[in-house]
Amino acid sequence: WAHTHIQCWHTHSLWALVYTQHPIWAGYDIHSWALRYVENTNTMACYNELLQLERGEVLAQFKLRACNAIFTALEQSQEAIEITNEDQVIQYVNPAYESIMGYQQGELIGKEITEVPKSEKNKPDLLETINSCIRKGKEWQGIYYAKKKNGDSVQQNVKITPVIGQGGKIRHYVSIHRPLHDQNKVRDIQSSKHKDRRKGSLDVRSTTSRGSDGSSQRRHSSMARIHSMTIEAPITKVINIINAAQESSPMPVAELYSPQLGTKEEDPHTNDLVGGLMTVKVGGRGRPWGSIDPHLPSHLAMPLSLNDIPPHVAQTMENEDSWDFDIFNLETACLKRPLTYLGLKIFSRFGVCEFLSCPEATLRSWLQGIEANYHSTNSYHNSSHAADVLHATSYFLCKERVKQSLEQIDEVAALIAATVHDVDHPGRTNSFLCNAGSELAILYNDTAVLESHHAALAFQITTRDDKCNIFKNMERNEYRTLRQAIIDMVLATEMTKHFEHVNKFVNSINKPLAALEENGGIGDEESVKGILTSPDNRILVKRMLIKCADISNPCRPLELCIEWAGRISEEYFAQTDEEKRQSLPVVMPVFDRNTCSIPKSQISFIDYFITDMFDAWDAFADLPNLMQHLDNNFKYWKGLDERKLHSLRPPPE
Ligand SMILES: *[C@@H]1O[C@H](CO)[C@@H](O)[C@H](O)[C@H]1NC(C)=O
Ligand SMILES: *[C@@H]1O[C@H](CO)[C@@H](O)[C@H](O)[C@H]1NC(C)=O
Repeated sequence: WAHTHIQCWHTHSLWALVYTQHPIWAGYDIHSWALRYVENTNTMACYNELLQLERGEVLAQFKLRACNAIFTALEQSQEAIEITNEDQVIQYVNPAYESIMGYQQGELIGKEITEVPKSEKNKPDLLETINSCIRKGKEWQGIYYAKKKNGDSVQQNVKITPVIGQGGKIRHYVSIHRPLHDQNKVRDIQSSKHKDRRKGSLDVRSTTSRGSDGSSQRRHSSMARIHSMTIEAPITKVINIINAAQESSPMPVAELYSPQLGTKEEDPHTNDLVGGLMTVKVGGRGRPWGSIDPHLPSHLAMPLSLNDIPPHVAQTMENEDSWDFDIFNLETACLKRPLTYLGLKIFSRFGVCEFLSCPEATLRSWLQGIEANYHSTNSYHNSSHAADVLHATSYFLCKERVKQSLEQIDEVAALIAATVHDVDHPGRTNSFLCNAGSELAILYNDTAVLESHHAALAFQITTRDDKCNIFKNMERNEYRTLRQAIIDMVLATEMTKHFEHVNKFVNSINKPLAALEENGGIGDEESVKGILTSPDNRILVKRMLIKCADISNPCRPLELCIEWAGRISEEYFAQTDEEKRQSLPVVMPVFDRNTCSIPKSQISFIDYFITDMFDAWDAFADLPNLMQHLDNNFKYWKGLDERKLHSLRPPPE
């Protein structure tokens, strides 16, 4: 426990950020989260949650840089700034505070405000006023006497801002102090906007204390407070620095970090700003793409099984065998690990572990390792897309004709190929990479750059470490066959060969099958079987299968189809933005966020790529529900386009 605990909280500032950001935790109290974490007996599960959070979401270097910038601003501020938690325990004072008040940080941090000596010059009767003001979450501002360490009283203009955390509770108080003799600064502070300004002449530190509440009413045991401090301190700093800085610091702190974050945050609300810290545009990553994510430490090869999937996650996967399965529910429920969870379930349904003679723990590590190498910063090509393609693949594999054609090794290859088929996708197209002269384009001679990379990297990740090597116990020849099939399928997702693959499928499979049916009715079982199961045709079926799974978005129920359309458009917009920034050729000029008609782009995509391919696939595999959705969705986009709308949805009536 101790080992896990220490390791996890080693980067607690990052966890805290992740925690506040993720919807699944929104509204929870970080204290209870910490306690839940601490109390969870399955420490491996916890560790893994955290690890995955970091891999999936937290871009450590990026955030540390942003935090450093903010800290620098705070440390340089000429105003004395003091931050306490909701129990009035001092968590931070800046250097200006130290020099004005004569204390060292170390003498104050961890102390309750009531323990710090106060000046007798303040009238005590405003205490309740101020307390009731700030406890309601309102800001208080006024003049008071503070007592320096040497006993002198100094008159200061002080502003106390309660900081509201997730769930609407007050989490901290930020006090900003200015000696009153500094006229400029007083003017600054007085002209700054504030909500509930009251003047008084009280020692702020006595007013902000709990007073008569007493320690018996504390919400947390001392143990819990220790935890909460450990966990909260970094985020306290970030949130409060932002607030304090925005309110009154002469230093343009927000400006300082926003270029790095690539966002313009106008709204000073804490959540938005923390959100801003977390928002990373496509292309911004801690790890240069093309490099392998360090594989999971060996102690993470967890003996967890399907049975350990949290019930609320399991619930979102109950109907995963249906085409109308809503993957976005899973995405929301599972802390951005849809691929791991759905993979576990689907692979188990198809008996993949048995086929590979691999323990489920290895499969789990493998899924995690693969998922960690998808970029969660891509708006489309992240592990949700991989999970979606895996889902479509598993659905197609259950169709009668497909089952007749494929053997189990083909099914296993298809499921694995779907899982890895876009791993480490940089959120840019092949043409972009070639134009930009990227390392990968150079490595792969501008040919099937991404697809080659996905296939190669998938095997590197898998075979580097026995803990996640799902192929380890396979017989050599069988492995070679499987590997060949996986590579072939991943490469088949390359769109330059789209028409070639579809045509081959139609000519070698659909036409001969149709001819047989016309001639001899259903009679000639043997000939049908011959067509379906010849090695060459099995390859064509698998290619067609993964291609259709890969671009099946327009055949999904309308709401899902719309969500995917929004994501792919955003990813393309981001590429166009970058092409313009870098003066590269704009590969897809219609995907300009200022001018693009999303309905038109969807209509063209369906017309050009989808209709014929799914006609052929439907003729083979019999997919009336998909064709119905495709029809509906097409009409939906047409409808928007006829109304000359460019957006994903019609405006509200
Ligand atoms: C994929 O990107 C979308 C944004 O388009 C995001 O909401 C989602 O959480 C991402 N999924 C994963 C698993 O990173
Ligand atoms: C790229 O082209 C060079 C020169 O033709 C060749 O030697 C090399 O094998 C090619 N690499 C790949 C990955 O195709």
